[in-house]
Amino acid sequence: MERKKHLQPHAVLIPLPLQGHINPFTHLAVKLASKGFTITFVGTELTHKQIATAQSLKDDNNPFSHEQKSGHDIRYAKISDGFPLSFDRRANASQFMEGLTHVFQAHVDDFIENLVLSKPNPPISCLIADSFHVWASTIAKKYNLVNVSFWTEPATVLTVFYHTDLLKSNGHFGCHDKCEDTIRYIPGVQAIKPEDLPSYCQDADPSARYVFKCIEDAQSADFVIGNTVQELEPSAISALQEQQPFYAIGPVFPTSFSKITISTSLLPASDYTNWLNSKQDGKLLYISFGSLANLSKQDILEIAQGILTSKVSFIWVIRHNILVSGERNILPPGFEEETADRGLVVPWCSQLAVLSHPAVGGFLTHCGWNSILESMWCKVPMLCFPVLADQLTNRKLVVDDWRIGVNLCTGRLIRREVVAENIGKIMSKSDESRKNIEKTKMILQKALSNEGSSEKNLNQFIEDMKNKILQN
Ligand code: UDX
Repeated sequence: MERKKHLQPHAVLIPLPLQGHINPFTHLAVKLASKGFTITFVGTELTHKQIATAQSLKDDNNPFSHEQKSGHDIRYAKISDGFPLSFDRRANASQFMEGLTHVFQAHVDDFIENLVLSKPNPPISCLIADSFHVWASTIAKKYNLVNVSFWTEPATVLTVFYHTDLLKSNGHFGCHDKCEDTIRYIPGVQAIKPEDLPSYCQDADPSARYVFKCIEDAQSADFVIGNTVQELEPSAISALQEQQPFYAIGPVFPTSFSKITISTSLLPASDYTNWLNSKQDGKLLYISFGSLANLSKQDILEIAQGILTSKVSFIWVIRHNILVSGERNILPPGFEEETADRGLVVPWCSQLAVLSHPAVGGFLTHCGWNSILESMWCKVPMLCFPVLADQLTNRKLVVDDWRIGVNLCTGRLIRREVVAENIGKIMSKSDESRKNIEKTKMILQKALSNEGSSEKNLNQFIEDMKNKILQN
């Protein structure tokens, strides 16, 4: 009887409390619940408040209530990340990361201890933590849970991280502006330039220490599930599978964007459908640099001038905190007036609603992995301006390997003439990227179908995980 009861897995899901991680985690919760899992989804008090405020919901709102009504067993809890709500996590990033390492771990530990003591039915059997949590193996071991790491970035980035020892021994760690070599020794990565490595392998980034501790911890997970697709990254995935059970189950997002029932946005977004409806199909450039990346005022100025020269119609997300300085007047004087008939500058939007609108024909992006997957799904070719982290490697995949986008500029230096020229290129009907992205969409669609690789991998993961639960 006890054995049978354990066959119904109960997983505790804990994302990193950032937009680009909460989104795939939320949809993973729904996916697993639809396959019979009981889920306890753990948000932080801050992200809970941000989501509730953004959506004007009551503070006791449960984001999964709609799912529960449709029969999915998704329970929801929020815990403190260890800092007061008013603490500026962005301005104090290294202190925040230090806190995620120790203080947040203590809160997670307390939460799971109490959950175990409350004897939930079914009992919790598995921890699915973000690969960017440094404490997952410690917690999983303490409570005898199967340890599943959810990797929300491309497999290529993970295999690079798993082989930083090789980068170091070959003198390619931290050498991006000092050498022109092509790196050919990373398992699963045919060839990569030092400048295309994740930023943590390039500069003396203060976050790098935290990231590498997380990667070390993820290497001891029982299973890694990745928000990627077998057919997109076959070599990187095979290389990872040599080391650890790795399952490509992506893309993990709701494929029918009009039927989204869960609010995950940390910032409020207005509905721009009427404005989008007034624009010609395929002629609009969508511009967004995701939820974290900072740009310099000069970069924004050059992009704005490039837009003016290109005469393209656009919708541009400029977050209030896109400049480190927090300055508000960042566009050239008169820019919004001059482009009023063809452009809209907004602080945030529902990206899925915008990308899937027929008016949108190009996406100027920072190459965040969620943005790339969403753009592929909507068949919108990309103009790439990566800023940090995996975005540098993601650019290589999009532009050099899959050829579904072009570079905004060469290297980091943006010049307005080049911006205008490349906007023209990406918006052109005949651009190669447009044809290729149609094929990429089909790959994604096929992967998610009943006989597709992601669906099969997900089912295999569930079977392997259940076996592991029985052994635990
Ligand atoms: C971060 C890292 O920057 C990225 O490189 C990593 O792959 C994931 O974590 P972020 O910068 O937020 O993510 O970018 P991205 O991965 O693209 O995720 C942003 C999410 O916010 C997307 O799902 C996108 O749909 C959503 N979004 C973005 C909005 O809903 N509205 C917006 O205006 C902009």
